[in-house]
Amino acid sequence: MQTIMNRPIVFSGAQPTGHLTLGNYLGALRQWTAMQADHDCIFCVVDLHALTVRQDPVQFRERILDLAALFLASGIDPEQSVIFVQSHVPAHAELAWLLSTFTMMGELDRMTQFKDKSRSHAHNVNAGLFTYPVLMAADILLYGTHKVPVGEDQKQHLELTRDVAVRFNGLHGTVFVVPEPLVTGGGAARIKDLQEPTKKMSKTAESDLAKVMILDEPDAIMKKFKKAVTDSLGVIRDDEEQQPGVVNLLNIWRAARGATMEEALAHFSHHQYGRLKVETGEAVVALLDPVRRRFQELRSDPKELEGILARGADQAMERAERMMQKVLTALGVPLQGSRFPIREQGRP
Ligand code: TRP
Repeated sequence: MQTIMNRPIVFSGAQPTGHLTLGNYLGALRQWTAMQADHDCIFCVVDLHALTVRQDPVQFRERILDLAALFLASGIDPEQSVIFVQSHVPAHAELAWLLSTFTMMGELDRMTQFKDKSRSHAHNVNAGLFTYPVLMAADILLYGTHKVPVGEDQKQHLELTRDVAVRFNGLHGTVFVVPEPLVTGGGAARIKDLQEPTKKMSKTAESDLAKVMILDEPDAIMKKFKKAVTDSLGVIRDDEEQQPGVVNLLNIWRAARGATMEEALAHFSHHQYGRLKVETGEAVVALLDPVRRRFQELRSDPKELEGILARGADQAMERAERMMQKVLTALGVPLQGSRFPIREQGRP
């Protein structure tokens, strides 16, 4: 077994903006939880990032707690990993400022997500939307992160993080670890909309029938699968071109069951679509039902959840503070007695 010390450090984050889909579960959360065994994992609810878009404060608070509870319900274990809320650790915002002086306007201007978001939020193109990737770089670099599991859409931000780390290290000596992307989301990319199976399943899809949410009740899940769009060919084959709906159901069934396409075809090829839909629905219920139940337990006990997040913030803060001292020292800031002490243990 590897010791705690030499496990690679992993950092990932998700924004508390609304509920997550089956695609998010398979493509991100399930992969994160699987990494815990042999990595030193840090998982963060990135609430500061979410503030680049206007949030209703009452709803925002609930969404932050919801996402933290969903992380835990999906199997992130606070005994093994650090789980916390970004804004509880002030070093994220602080390092983002410092790193913004090592990030060029031209680099930020090239970010495709900024271009997309300034189009979709044309009434609120705030400076935070522009500097969003710098805050993300701070999240990652604060912890000496080796690997960052991200979806395809975040690869460009990770490239920028690497460039900023290399630039800083070049000017001030090796302070930051240059992180590697670990592109996950294979699952999410593969899971398609149940009504329009050529499109990726998205939490913003208009029709409720199109998407399975992690917290859907079993009845709702079964209904969505029974109404999933297939085709009129009447055979179950792995032919994405001709039968995207059928292939999507096969992919979901095998992702939920941990089976290969060969096994899925062997299991279903002599059956009709009805059977495929029902069994896929059942496999997804078996996967998500324990997550939903654990989520409800956690959300009904705010003290427990808040305690877990407070301990996580303490652990993160201690590690972040060590990095901040290195960064500030490298920049020439005299620190004697100026920073808050690093607590050895968690909260009293
Ligand atoms: N920008 C990421 C997203 O929208 C979320 C995020 C913020 C993140 N900080 C991070 C992901 C650090 C990985 C590492 O998906």
